[in-house]
Amino acid sequence: MISAICISVASCVIAAWMIYTILSLAPWLPTRKSDIARIGTLSGLKSGETFYDLGSGDARVILLLARLYPDARFVGVEMSFVLHGIACARVFFSGVTNVRLIRGNIYTQSYGDADVLYVFGVRRSINSPRFLGVVAQLRAHSRIVLYNFTLKRWDGITVRDAPEGQTPLTIYTVPE
Ligand SMILES: C[S@@+](CC[C@H](N)C(=O)[O-])C[C@H]1O[C@@H](n2cnc3c(N)ncnc32)[C@H](O)[C@@H]1O
Repeated sequence: MISAICISVASCVIAAWMIYTILSLAPWLPTRKSDIARIGTLSGLKSGETFYDLGSGDARVILLLARLYPDARFVGVEMSFVLHGIACARVFFSGVTNVRLIRGNIYTQSYGDADVLYVFGVRRSINSPRFLGVVAQLRAHSRIVLYNFTLKRWDGITVRDAPEGQTPLTIYTVPE
């Protein structure tokens, strides 16, 4: 009886968390490993620049890119305590020194130092006024890289990369 109650409560908590993340940005669904190097190349990331992964999950994107671009800085922002804990352990054991992880809400951070924002969020979230508030913080020439989904409207340069059999990436450059 007690175990049935515990299972029900745990299921409700997990379901509520899933719904919350869907409404906020996206539930945890990792970027395919085979797409990660493409993200670095298409973002035009250079030495000394700062790359953010908004909703960084287990940090797989920034960890791989941090090895490929040792002279760039990487920041992951993740709301889930569990995923953040896993990400911290992965970063610690990887030995990379150019990664910083923040446990928090992407909508309450500052992105004034960002050169690239990578986001794997659902269509509704990335077109919400809250997300557009994040984008509004970016400096001219910064890039936003979106996985699979796209913005409904953008006034700057847009590049779409959709090779057959791979997930589309769209890169938006912030105008002057
Ligand atoms: C689709 S997953 C992408 C994970 C990672 N970026 C990757 O590509 O492998 C979206 C992530 O965003 C996190 N998330 C959802 N809403 C968030 C919010 N408001 N602030 C921070 N993280 C959030 C989820 O917990 C989940 O890990």
